[in-house]
Amino acid sequence: MTNDDYSSALTRRRFLRAVLAGSALVGAGALLNSCGAPSAGTSAPATANTTPLKIGLLVPSSDIYAVLGASITQGMQIAFAQVGNEAGGRPIEIISEDEGTKPDLALQKARKLVEQDQVALVAGVVSSGVANALRDYFHDGQKLLVLANAGANALARKAKSPYIFRASFSNWQSNWQMGTWAAANIGKRAMLSAPDYAAGKEMLSAFRNSFEAAGGEVVQVQLTPFPNIGDPAPFMAQIRDAAADFVYAFYSGAASVAFVKAYSDFGLAQTVPLAGVGFLVEQDVLPQLASAALNIRSALHWAAPLDNPENKAFTTAYQKLTNQQPNVFAVQGYDAARLIIEGVNAVQGDVSQQDILLKALGAATFASPRGPFKLDPNTNNPINPCYVREVRQAGSAYTNVVIAMLEAAGDPGDDSKDTPVA
Ligand code: PHB
Repeated sequence: MTNDDYSSALTRRRFLRAVLAGSALVGAGALLNSCGAPSAGTSAPATANTTPLKIGLLVPSSDIYAVLGASITQGMQIAFAQVGNEAGGRPIEIISEDEGTKPDLALQKARKLVEQDQVALVAGVVSSGVANALRDYFHDGQKLLVLANAGANALARKAKSPYIFRASFSNWQSNWQMGTWAAANIGKRAMLSAPDYAAGKEMLSAFRNSFEAAGGEVVQVQLTPFPNIGDPAPFMAQIRDAAADFVYAFYSGAASVAFVKAYSDFGLAQTVPLAGVGFLVEQDVLPQLASAALNIRSALHWAAPLDNPENKAFTTAYQKLTNQQPNVFAVQGYDAARLIIEGVNAVQGDVSQQDILLKALGAATFASPRGPFKLDPNTNNPINPCYVREVRQAGSAYTNVVIAMLEAAGDPGDDSKDTPVA
């Protein structure tokens, strides 16, 4: 299968089922352990269940976050290939559904995976709006959900659930640390901009709270249409008129391409520095943004050039599989899959032993490309490092160079540090 075949396969439902069953895992083949043996701790009991372990994968394959969904999928694929595509002695079977961006439609897809396909767990989920909409279904039904992106704060706070784990971040993380850093290093008068939905508002709130505590002043908050910004001109005019020291923004995927390009096209990049949370200029959009992203500073729990053995090995595997640089979404997919493998190994494939499975998920630690991976037992949310990065050109490519490392943090677990932004 060529890479072109691979990308088109991404659009097909259940593509991974075929890939995993057919063993033709392009590029990642070298990662399979030599005899296909499961990893340590999985010696099978006499009555071992060797039927396929069905995992529902709910990520976007349409709309502005489609590339994020593909990246998460590819990251997961690498992690599963590393353990011979089995966990707890059972072959892994992935059943994919398109998350889109509409919470009610995504909830229907999740129900279908659980009730019709009878998956053991659902993994993925990019959008906070979707994650919030799924919460009661999984919590009340005592079904396992492993989030690989969606940062909705409530899931680490008042809506946290013993059945929901997050391998990614909460929307508070990185933004809070960046507020303090920006006040000291970028400017004191900021304009904030994000799409008008849960993640946009929560990220700007976290930034605003620490920025103001550090003596910063927010001159205006701009909330733009979600998922598509539409014509960016009126928003660029608002930014020009606000005459702030800098703009702090969250956009991601195709929305980031639209916003950052418009920012540059309108001549704002030369007059008002743009900063943000790292998704704004992640590796998934840098090839399209190119020089429009130069010098943008952003905070995130990962950066492409991180010099640790796991990041190097993951980057090599990802390039082999996709011919592209990895991005933070691929890393999160990789870590979500590793979390799942740890949990399923702990029950030797018998996922009906839910108490043991949940405990193992909560206790899992491993070396991640982002640094050491560990969940906060109070929130089931990772304690993440925080890297300040700056976009620089390296040859013909653009990358996020780390310029500062801020305090590692978990989500605070309540709203006490978060005054809503709008
Ligand atoms: C979210 O909706 O939680 C979200 C979406 C895209 C990102 C980050 C967070 O890049």
